[in-house]
Amino acid sequence: FFAVTQAVERSYIMIKPDGVQRGLVGEIITRFERKGFSLKGLKLFQAPKELAEEHYSELKERPFYPELVKYIVSGPVVCMVWEGPGVIASARKLIGATNPLLAEPGTIRGDFGIQSGRNVIHGSDSPDNGEREIALWFKEGELVEWTRNRTHMLA
Ligand code: PPS
Repeated sequence: FFAVTQAVERSYIMIKPDGVQRGLVGEIITRFERKGFSLKGLKLFQAPKELAEEHYSELKERPFYPELVKYIVSGPVVCMVWEGPGVIASARKLIGATNPLLAEPGTIRGDFGIQSGRNVIHGSDSPDNGEREIALWFKEGELVEWTRNRTHMLA
């Protein structure tokens, strides 16, 4: 036996309003659970406009920015923190390419999405952005410290 050496990271994963409306919450949580990551935070949340703007502040100059912010506040989202070795890159693999038409079948967007503007789910693109986003969307005390038995991750 040897331990997994990849760094333990946290990713901010958010099921967007279209994912919630379409009843994909359970399916998406199941995929992350079965992969083996640990759920550290979870809430259904109606985002205020200012928070959506801050979350996507790097995209402020993009032509789709106003539409993106409007979409994120159009209904409840499910905010999650998933933790585990290499979770940032791994979550993005589970999620699939930004444009669902380019996302491989078997990925969340490849299986459930059609449009970039309605692509079901968000996942942090780097460990630093993960921590930035977790701090934005979760308050102190909303995350739970617990350890999932990691024997399933050992080779
Ligand atoms: S980048 O910076 O070019 O790599 O941007 P990208 O990763 O492709 O997309 C950044 C986020 O913008 C969302 N996006 C859109 N939203 C609405 N409409 C359009 N046309 C559109 N194009 C991209 C995309 O889903 C990314 O959001 P997140 O939530 O981070 O996946």
